[in-house]
Amino acid sequence: MGKKDHERSQKGVTRRGFLRLMGVGAMASTATRGLSAEPAGKVMEPGEMTKIRLLINGRRHGLLVEPRWSLLFVLREKLGLTGTKVGCERGECGACTVLINGEPRYACMTLAVEAEGKEITTLEGLMKGEQLGTVQQAFLEEDALQCGYCTPGQIMAVEGLLRSNPDPSLEEIRHGVSGNLCRCGAYEHIFRAARRAADLRRSKGGAA
Ligand code: FES
Ligand code: FES
Repeated sequence: MGKKDHERSQKGVTRRGFLRLMGVGAMASTATRGLSAEPAGKVMEPGEMTKIRLLINGRRHGLLVEPRWSLLFVLREKLGLTGTKVGCERGECGACTVLINGEPRYACMTLAVEAEGKEITTLEGLMKGEQLGTVQQAFLEEDALQCGYCTPGQIMAVEGLLRSNPDPSLEEIRHGVSGNLCRCGAYEHIFRAARRAADLRRSKGGAA
């Protein structure tokens, strides 16, 4: 190995060398794609449907959907699960919050096809028959709503928070619902409800 080669190997790949390598890699990958016998992804026509299976509140649903449909649209308009509310429809208000694999997500910003293979929980899924879930019960007890429009989303955000953090501090609660706007300004009650829900859960041995 010459002196220069030795120095290069000591320093690792130089920036110029890295760019050169990337160029070769990109060309190689383009060439491979070009030579591949595999057909390119099928382009769907407007209005064309695709079949998906969604697991919602523990029930499986087989559905025909357009790839552009949001999970919010499918939940409300195709499955009648209207507990999930329509607000801004652009990821700003949180009214449409559901849990996907236990984490709060905006259903308006999630395509239904993206949700396939994941576990979806909506407000309806927190009920135990006719009985309210702990977070729903706590919102009722703490009077954590005025007009109520943001409430389903707030409840789902708190539910998601408590699943990952059963004993949140006030700061963690504030952070947990920070993606959910309440135009009525019922925040103090919402924070208290989240604390109450954590206590209710603890008294039930962690059950939702
Ligand atoms: S409706 Fe989804 S964030 Fe507002
Ligand atoms: S209770 Fe009215 S928007 Fe929150």
